[in-house]
Amino acid sequence: MAGVQLSALSTLNYRNLAPSTLEFPAGVTGIFGENGAGKTNLLEAVYLALTGLTDAPRLEQLVQQGEQEAYVRADIEQGGSLSIQEVGLGRGRRQLKVDGVRVRTGDLPRGSAVWIRPEDSELVFGSPSGRRAYLDSLLSRLSQRYGQHLSRYERTVAQRNAALKAGENWAMEVWDDTLVNLGTEIMLFRRRALGRLDELAREANEQLGSRKVLTLALSESTTPEQYAYDLTSRRAEELARGSTVTGPHRDDLLLTLGDFAAGDYASRGEGRTIALALRRAELELLAEKFKEKPVLLIDDFTAELDPNRRQYLLDLAASVPQAIVTGTEEAPGAALTLRAQAGRFTEELRQEVGA
Ligand SMILES: Nc1ncnc2c1ncn2[C@@H]1O[C@H](COP(=O)(O)OP(=O)(O)O)[C@@H](O)[C@H]1O
Ligand SMILES: [Mg+2]
Repeated sequence: MAGVQLSALSTLNYRNLAPSTLEFPAGVTGIFGENGAGKTNLLEAVYLALTGLTDAPRLEQLVQQGEQEAYVRADIEQGGSLSIQEVGLGRGRRQLKVDGVRVRTGDLPRGSAVWIRPEDSELVFGSPSGRRAYLDSLLSRLSQRYGQHLSRYERTVAQRNAALKAGENWAMEVWDDTLVNLGTEIMLFRRRALGRLDELAREANEQLGSRKVLTLALSESTTPEQYAYDLTSRRAEELARGSTVTGPHRDDLLLTLGDFAAGDYASRGEGRTIALALRRAELELLAEKFKEKPVLLIDDFTAELDPNRRQYLLDLAASVPQAIVTGTEEAPGAALTLRAQAGRFTEELRQEVGA
């Protein structure tokens, strides 16, 4: 299967990165360097330029200290054509352009990148909101419609909550209709997508050598049939709390390993394996949907101490058309190796043996 290719990344005032344009070949690019050198920042910039997405709590954090605005640009080859994606950041604003034309996040190609990082264990051990974010972000990329429904749903919840806090019981009829319509679509889409996601994650977990079976399931706070009724019957509670207590914004993605809830019972190592399986499933689903492998970004393969998982990461990187792998050591077998130092990346030239 062909893949998305990042041919170059340019950055200006992005975190600690020195202004530069880096070119990336097909195959694996290995980036190594000490802690704090800017390896994670570079992957974050690549992910942002390819997808328009960031999980930084505040956009200002991405702008180099002392500067007002930052800029990243990706030169991309996709399906035989070239395009340029640009992201400008400044004071809480994010401006996206494709080939010079302004677009919204939802308009960017949605299957361009998958990012695997050590913090992914939080998907297993962290709160439901992290798992919801994983699911929602993946499903929004699989379906633009899902993304649109979800953002309208979330806006409606916020407005409804404001009305609940203000004690505007009379306004609920209007909000509830919208909420039920959008919420039902979201629940049904999640149910449909979960079957394949569960299958792919289970396979990956098995390939990673786990002898326990991984199962993914939705834990729903209500159902499409029940939603309207639940909203009405819990109105008093909602008015008292000033918030919407039922609906897909309260659901969870249940991860079960063997017979037990992974978040409560899995070992740290099992948790890392599960998180990796979820990312692998993400990669496969996006590739199936868009008929192209995303660029694979692997942050800090050296943080992975288990030899099995470390090898799995390296094999995975070698199996896709393009991957960027960071670590405190060099990734073996890379087509290009860059040394990271204080936000700069320089090519590490191999010394010929015996020369
Ligand atoms: N907005 C910013 N402006 C300047 N430096 C930043 C900014 N955000 C983070 N940094 C710096 O970037 C460095 C971390 O880089 P990082 O990419 O996480 O390193 P690593 O190579 O270990 O992955 C830290 O030294 C941090 O202070
Ligand atoms: Mg790092």
